[in-house]
Amino acid sequence: MAKKLRAGVIGCGSIAQALHLPGYARQPGVALVAACDPDKKRRAEAVGGFGVERTYADYREMLAVEELDVVSVCSPNRFHAEQAVAALQAGAHVLLEKPAALSMKEIDRIKAAVRKSGKILIVGYSHRFHRGNLKAKKLVESGAIGEPYMIRVRFAHMGPFPGWAKSDWFYKPELAGGGALLDMGIHAIDQCLWFCGPVRSVQATAVTLRKDIQLDDNAVVQLEFANGKTLGYIEVGWTSPTGFNGVEIMGDGGSILIDYANGMTLTTGKVTPNLKARVQRKTRLLDPKPTTGGWSIEVAELVKHIRMKSDRGHGIDAGGAALQVALAAYESSRTGRRVKLMRGRG
Ligand SMILES: NC(=O)c1ccc[n+]([C@@H]2O[C@H](COP(=O)([O-])OP(=O)(O)OC[C@H]3O[C@@H](n4cnc5c(N)ncnc54)[C@H](O)[C@@H]3O)[C@@H](O)[C@H]2O)c1
Repeated sequence: MAKKLRAGVIGCGSIAQALHLPGYARQPGVALVAACDPDKKRRAEAVGGFGVERTYADYREMLAVEELDVVSVCSPNRFHAEQAVAALQAGAHVLLEKPAALSMKEIDRIKAAVRKSGKILIVGYSHRFHRGNLKAKKLVESGAIGEPYMIRVRFAHMGPFPGWAKSDWFYKPELAGGGALLDMGIHAIDQCLWFCGPVRSVQATAVTLRKDIQLDDNAVVQLEFANGKTLGYIEVGWTSPTGFNGVEIMGDGGSILIDYANGMTLTTGKVTPNLKARVQRKTRLLDPKPTTGGWSIEVAELVKHIRMKSDRGHGIDAGGAALQVALAAYESSRTGRRVKLMRGRG
């Protein structure tokens, strides 16, 4: 039997308490030995709520003392790269919350640390682990809807604070690094890249429409994919009730709608935009609860990938690819221009 993995968590706030701490606590083959947070209350919650054995105020001390096999990074965005690199250097596999980093230089540092350590790093793109999104990925890859020509993604809610995060750091540029476009948009961009491949150019508007903050609270992004035959558009926001949240992929032979609240449908049939052939369409409900999975299976997925010794495409390359598009989207919004992505990055 494989030896138990010794797990530790950096940052014990909302996502740690919703996903990482319970994920390690219930995962067979894992011992949740340590957690750290500068906030004493959060440390107490990690012990009381999840049975963490020891806590630390400083992650460096935790990494030096505990000889961890696996570490989750769940701190504010500003600290992700530094803490992921330190955990890899300390010999741990890493589950790194999104955004993986705030700059491509930081991404390069994480990539180098992954290479040097030989450890597995998975980025917390939790939408990839929704049951519906996983089904859709298989359907797209099997050609069930033909070649995708359009993808749309909308992720929105009223904002991470109050109501979710333990403090208002999401609204502080120095800690968050970006607003709704970075926070929700990075998931949306990742979904677009995951389903439709690399992006050639980006046009975006990221603005502060309603909140009294120094960061964008709403954004729209248009993507032109590298294949020259697919377009994407994204809407993200921190100011509206959830409404439609989900992903829709349109292909030459059908379409997939993953409506997070109302279910996932597959429409097939001969789609003939030129109207020269008869259109025979059929819509089937594939999954009434497409968001099943997600956070609740992410730690299990990490452990599976550690045992398989592969990130299977969920690693820092994916973390960097989505960040590169997000940074290009901010540049486009700043300059008012469409931004072409450099070849070979991400
Ligand atoms: N995958 C998802 O769906 C998802 C959802 C929510 C948040 N997140 C990500 O998780 C991260 C944390 O967000 P949250 O919502 O839990 O915020 P939060 O405010 O609830 O928790 C952050 C915690 O980090 C602690 N912290 C602050 N500075 C630290 C440091 N230097 N080292 C260690 N810990 C530190 C805080 O005390 C707090 O307990 C963010 O990067 C966010 O983008 C991901």
